[in-house]
Amino acid sequence: MAIEQTFSILKPDATARNLTGAINALIEQAGLRIVAQKRVRITREQAETFYAVHRERPFFGELVDFMISGPVVVQVLEGDNAIVRYRDIMGATDPAKAAPGTIRKVHAKSIGENSVHGSDAPDTAAKEIAQFFSDNEIVG
Ligand code: CDP
Ligand code: MG
Repeated sequence: MAIEQTFSILKPDATARNLTGAINALIEQAGLRIVAQKRVRITREQAETFYAVHRERPFFGELVDFMISGPVVVQVLEGDNAIVRYRDIMGATDPAKAAPGTIRKVHAKSIGENSVHGSDAPDTAAKEIAQFFSDNEIVG
């Protein structure tokens, strides 16, 4: 299987509850490597660009407000089949529908405040990584 990189965000509901370490432990226990990481406050413009695909959805305004409501941790995760594997580790968007043991089942508060983001495909992973990291910040 191919080694891939995917982009992850620990969202404001997670940083507010001091869950960075707990979520990172689930990521590492599942065999993914955190090869870049920084804690930042993103701007409204960055959040709107990041979630542009959802601009017409009814939850877009709330989603952007939430993503800028507190610090986030942006990460690059690396491993075999990392994009699909991280989606599995995260669990379904709605924590009520997420499988047992997934990050969202264990930690998420609601479908909106659902603790983590993970890229959904190779093209979005590359684009999302490039929005937040330069090559020399990613150290495998
Ligand atoms: O994050 P994921 O790829 O699982 O879900 P998405 O469909 O790409 O939606 C992006 C984010 O929008 C979700 O993670 C939620 O934070 C938020 N969302 C929401 O607030 N209400 C919904 N009905 C769907 C998504
Ligand atoms: Mg998505």
